[in-house]
Amino acid sequence: MAQAVKGVVMVVEAVFEKFELKKEIFTKLDALCPPAVILASNTSTLSITSIAAVTKHPDRVIGTHYFSPVPAMRLVEVIRGKETSDATANKTVEICRKFGKTPIVVKNIPGFIVNRFL
Ligand SMILES: NC(=O)c1ccc[n+]([C@@H]2O[C@H](COP(=O)([O-])OP(=O)(O)OC[C@H]3O[C@@H](n4cnc5c(N)ncnc54)[C@H](O)[C@@H]3O)[C@@H](O)[C@H]2O)c1
Repeated sequence: MAQAVKGVVMVVEAVFEKFELKKEIFTKLDALCPPAVILASNTSTLSITSIAAVTKHPDRVIGTHYFSPVPAMRLVEVIRGKETSDATANKTVEICRKFGKTPIVVKNIPGFIVNRFL
């Protein structure tokens, strides 16, 4: 992991949907990455605030919820946790647009927007 995150601007975590595993990954990422690196989770259901709480820099933690199949689906839900900074949210939106995606910023509520509607 140390090798993989060297020199990056943003990390997108996409391990399977288990809080304990994401907690372990974010604790490691927080220790490995300088505070300017954005730490994003692709979680579909877990609270970004809770994931961010395991780090020392919750302001740089955010959700980026992509949709399957990712190369074809343009929508990305960008989820702000309680402590996510404006700088982190703005930069995440900018990066998603650079990927050719259509980001929407949503609140950290169960199901976010799309799954909540479904
Ligand atoms: N499948 C979907 O349609 C979909 C859509 C949007 C978001 N998500 C979210 O994406 C995330 C991944 O879901 P998925 O369906 O791709 O799951 P998956 O089980 O298909 O893939 C999970 C990946 O995590 C890896 N992994 C497992 N343990 C690991 C560890 N200790 N360290 C590093 N990597 C590890 C596995 O090798 C695998 O590549 C989940 O948070 C899920 O909610 C899934």
